[in-house]
Amino acid sequence: MRTKGAIGIFDSGIGGLTVAREIANLMPNERLVYLGDTARLPYGSKSSSTVIKYALRNVGFLAKTPLKAIVVACNTVSSVALPALREMVDIPVLGVIGPGARTAVQASRSGIIGVIGQPGTIKSGRYESAILQLNSDAKVYSTTTPLLVPLAEEGWLNTEVSKLVLKSYLEPLVSRGIDTLVLGCTHYPLFKPEVEALCKDEFQRDVALVDSAVSISRELKGMLERDGLLNPHPAPVHRFYATDDVDTFKRVGQAFWGQDFPQVLHVDL
Ligand code: DGL
Repeated sequence: MRTKGAIGIFDSGIGGLTVAREIANLMPNERLVYLGDTARLPYGSKSSSTVIKYALRNVGFLAKTPLKAIVVACNTVSSVALPALREMVDIPVLGVIGPGARTAVQASRSGIIGVIGQPGTIKSGRYESAILQLNSDAKVYSTTTPLLVPLAEEGWLNTEVSKLVLKSYLEPLVSRGIDTLVLGCTHYPLFKPEVEALCKDEFQRDVALVDSAVSISRELKGMLERDGLLNPHPAPVHRFYATDDVDTFKRVGQAFWGQDFPQVLHVDL
C-alpha cells in the first residue's frame, strides 16, 4: 500500500535535516529515509551540471526504497535539478523554492522581498523568478551569504562573529526596504532567533522570515492528504544515510535534527 511508503529526503549533507525535522514534527506517522551526500558537499559553490549529476545519483539511491514522495531539501539542488529529477522517477519530487516563494509572497505587504542563499541558488535566480511569477510587481533583492554554512556547522550560533557576519550581509537588503526575507539555504533556520533580534533591535525593522523547511512540509502534508497517502498508523523508524563518515554526520547533524539519531548508515555512491 502506498500509504506505507516512506518519504525520501536528500541534501548535500546535514543541513537538510532542518527540513526532515519539520516533516517529522508535522507528520509524526511518516517514515523518513534521509540521504546526506556529505562526501561531496558543499553543493552551493559547484556548477549546475555537477549538482544535477550528484542529485540524480542521490535519487537513484533513494528510489531503491518504496517511496511515496521525494523531498529535495537542498536549495541549490532545488534551483537547478528538479526537471531532471522529475523525469527520472514517477513519484512526486518536491523542491523548496516554490513553497518558499509562495510563503514569501503571502507574507510580504510591500512586495519588497530579500533572498539569501548559497552562490548556486542565488545565481540561478529561481527564487526571484518564482516570486515574480506570483506577484509581477514584487521587488526582489538577493545576496549570497556563504559564510553562514560553516558557521552553522561549527556551532558558532549566537556569537560575536555570527552577529557581525549577519549584520554585514543583511544591512544592504534591509536598507532596500525589505519586509520579508527568504532563508534560502538548509542551514539558515538555525540563525532565525539571531536574525529576528538583529532586525528588531539593530535595524529596528519588522521583517518576516520565510523558512522554506516549514513551507515545504506544509505543502507536502497537503499533497499527501489530498492523495489519501498519509499513513494512519505510526511507523516512524527513520533511516539516515551519509556518504562520508557517519560519526561526523551524527555529531554535526545533532543541532539540525534536534534529537538523537536512531541509526546512521554509510553508503558509497
Ligand atoms: N544544502 C545547501 C543548500 O541548501 C547548503 C550547503 C551546500 O552548499 O551544500 O543550498
